[in-house]
Amino acid sequence: MRPRVLIPADRIASRVRGLGATIARDLAGGRDAPLLVLALLDGGFCFVADLARALPLPDVEIAFLRTSSYRGGTRSTGVVEREPVPSVAGRCVLIVDDILDTGRTLAAVRGDVLRAGAAAVRACVLLDKPARRIDADGRADYVGFTIPDVFVIGYGLDHAGSFRHLPDLCVLDEG
Ligand code: IMP
Ligand code: MG
Repeated sequence: MRPRVLIPADRIASRVRGLGATIARDLAGGRDAPLLVLALLDGGFCFVADLARALPLPDVEIAFLRTSSYRGGTRSTGVVEREPVPSVAGRCVLIVDDILDTGRTLAAVRGDVLRAGAAAVRACVLLDKPARRIDADGRADYVGFTIPDVFVIGYGLDHAGSFRHLPDLCVLDEG
């Protein structure tokens, strides 16, 4: 299987800077506690590292939450395994994930965050694959790129644990 570039690193970088500016403008100020960025791992690790540094805010907290629904395949198993959310009561929480696919992951985590007493919840994904949406509660307020129904790797996204290190976002072609 060969990776073919879908979105090159420089386009990702400029889009992430734009997202950071928009999010900072929308979510700045008026709160007792800083914005809490809740980064979903493993796939979101590159995106959140870049997005966090593109937020021109004086104070931001970052917490990490491991989620999993793929078990090494290229199709979601439908069951979202996830860690318990950290303390979020009264906070404005920005959930950050690599990709919005069926929507089950964001729906599950958003539910957990709301049940844990967050004052406000927003979600930001680098990629959106609307063709595969199953759960309408899995929606994002901020989207980097909308892509067709292809399996993508690179920039943190993996296939069976491989390819996360690629700087470009790529499609895995057979052969
Ligand atoms: P959802 O719960 O189906 O929306 O899936 C979201 C999760 O599945 C993301 O956090 C990714 O980790 C993973 N995922 C979905 N599509 C892809 C893909 O094309 N490549 C790699 N991982 C993906
Ligand atoms: Mg993920």
